[in-house]
Formats: sequence, structure tokens, C-alpha cells
Amino acid sequence: MPTPPLKKEKIETARKYITQARLLGFEAGGTPSDVMVSRDAYVTATGKKMPLRTWRAWVTAADKTPPPDEPTDLVQIEPINQEWDSEGRQALVDHMSTRFKRREEIAKQRTWRKVYIKKEGPIGICWLGDPHVDDNGCNWPMLREHCELITATEGMFAATVGDLSNNWIGRLQRLWADQDTSKESARALVKWLMHDAGLPWLIVLLGNHDAWDPELVRSMCETNKIWLEDWQARFELHFPGGRTSRIHASHNFKGHSMWNTLHGHQKAAHMSSEAHLYIAGHTHNWALHQEESASRGFVYWLARCRGYKFIDDFADKLGHFSQAEGASIVSVFNPEAKTESAFLQCFSDVEVGADYLTWLRTKRK
Ligand SMILES: [Fe+2]
Ligand SMILES: [Fe+2]
Repeated sequence: MPTPPLKKEKIETARKYITQARLLGFEAGGTPSDVMVSRDAYVTATGKKMPLRTWRAWVTAADKTPPPDEPTDLVQIEPINQEWDSEGRQALVDHMSTRFKRREEIAKQRTWRKVYIKKEGPIGICWLGDPHVDDNGCNWPMLREHCELITATEGMFAATVGDLSNNWIGRLQRLWADQDTSKESARALVKWLMHDAGLPWLIVLLGNHDAWDPELVRSMCETNKIWLEDWQARFELHFPGGRTSRIHASHNFKGHSMWNTLHGHQKAAHMSSEAHLYIAGHTHNWALHQEESASRGFVYWLARCRGYKFIDDFADKLGHFSQAEGASIVSVFNPEAKTESAFLQCFSDVEVGADYLTWLRTKRK
């Protein structure tokens, strides 16, 4: 009498334990030991005893019976191959190499960028300290007076070390409520300074306040063709007679000392490239210092402008005293000077700096 076929459920049970045995690395149903493993797994899981002969019959039946069809998906979405092929990877490496070379070249040009002065004789740069034009404490009468002095003095250029406006963003937006000037008025004041005041701009640096949302200053510089740099610039003035002067201007220099306002500047002078002038703003206090490095053989100035924020509630709360002078620093270059120390002179009083420049220019006529 032929053996009756096994029931579907038994075949499926055998298939399940064969799969487990295969996961353990056995070819269940192949050798006797594989059949043992799948049977032992069944016995362990169910607690039911199973004679080896019976289990072998189950395994044989499962091997001979094709598995039921997998359920068919109603939708099949074509897979996307996101991997780069070797040709694509090579093209990417080529592109990255070309891009790096270009950026390296731009970085080189930016370091000690050459600025050719077309005007003969001495010139001056008035470094406007942090203007913060929309702040309640901005000393507008002084700022206007200084702008007028710059435009009225032959050979004087304007520059700023940044923080043109408060430009509150993010969590600091609540501070708009503490100032009389709206965002719209603040933009108008920046535009006045950068365009309407008629200043002969040499360079504008972005300070931390400007960098929070630099769109306004960027667009103003683009419109008026003003040279803009983010935070710092290192450039070289080339005068008509061939003399050159290096300037390292930065919103601030790294390094701080409670006893030396120019500590970060001095660090830059000693630890980076030589320049005739290291100038910054940011901390809302001013200082000037001229020195000669005997070992390295160069004469240099360290300068910090105070800026125009003359009423500062925040500083008052911290117990800081407010300086009354040095809002801007004027640097006067005399390319015809006989000595290095006379080649560049700096002034904490804009009017005196302007007068000195005018005197130098008049003297050579
Ligand atoms: Fe700042
Ligand atoms: Fe500032």
C-alpha cells in the first residue's frame, strides 16, 4: 500500500525548520546530520518528540514540493541606482582637483592683495570704528562730522572695520524692541553711510553684527562697487613712486589681555606676516601703538578704533567705563618720507589726522 502524501501543514513546518537549519549553515535535507539539526530544532521549539525516520519523510516531502508562490506586489517601483560608476568617480575627482586649484589661486590673490594708489603724494585712510548706525547710543553728530571731514580732505579715503548696524537676528531679535530704530530705518541709515554720505570708500569689512545677515551690506557694496571682505583683509598699497605698505585690517584679532588693549594685534604682528599697520575695532575701545621690531627690521602700528556707540546700557551694567575719543583712527601714508616711522603716522583724532594730511600735501607743492 503506497504511503499517503503528507499534509500541507506538515510540509510547511518541515520547510520552516529546514530554513532555520540553513541559517545555521547546514544544508538541511542533504546529509543525515543536517536532517538531525532541523529535527532537533523542531523538537526544541515544539516540545514534541519526532522519530528521525518520520522527520526524514517530512524533509523529503518538503524538498520535493515547490514552495507556494510569493504574494505579488500590486505596484513595482523601478529602483534608482545612486552609486557613482568608476567613470563618474574619476570625473568627480578631476572636478574637485580643478576646483581646489582655483580656490588656492583665489586665496593667494586675496593674501596681500595689491591696491594701486593712483594719487600722487601722501594719502590718508580714515578707519571708521564700529558705526552701529541704528543703535540708540550711536553718536550721529560725531559720525556726520567725521564723514564731512573725510569728503572735504583731499587724498583721504574711507574704510570701516565692520558692525555697520546692530542687525539683530535669531534670539537677539527681541532687542529691536529696545531701540527706537526699526529694521527698515536701520537699512536706510546703512544706505546713507555707504552711499549718500559720498565717502570715497577703500574697503568695508563685515563685523560679527553684519555677518549675521550680510545681505544688505553685500548688496550696497555691489551697487556702489565697494571692496568688501568678510571679517579681515590683508592688502598692499602700491604708491606711484614704487613704495609699498602692507595693511592687515580685521574686525578683531585673536587674543585678549585685560592689561593690553592691543594684545591680539601684537600677537598677529609677531606670529603672522609683517605689516605696517594692524587695525581692528569690535571691542568699542581705542588704542594706538607704534613700534620697531629690531630683530625683524620693520616699523609698525597697532591700532584699535573705538566706534560710535557712545551710550551702551549693556557695558554700563557690566561696569565698563566708556571712552570719549578715538571713534575712528586716521592713518596717513607719506610715500616721500625719509624714514620708516614717518612713512606712516596714525591719529586718534580725525580732524588732526586730516589737518596733518593736508599739511603734508600742501608742503610738497
Ligand atoms: Fe563686533
Ligand atoms: Fe561692535
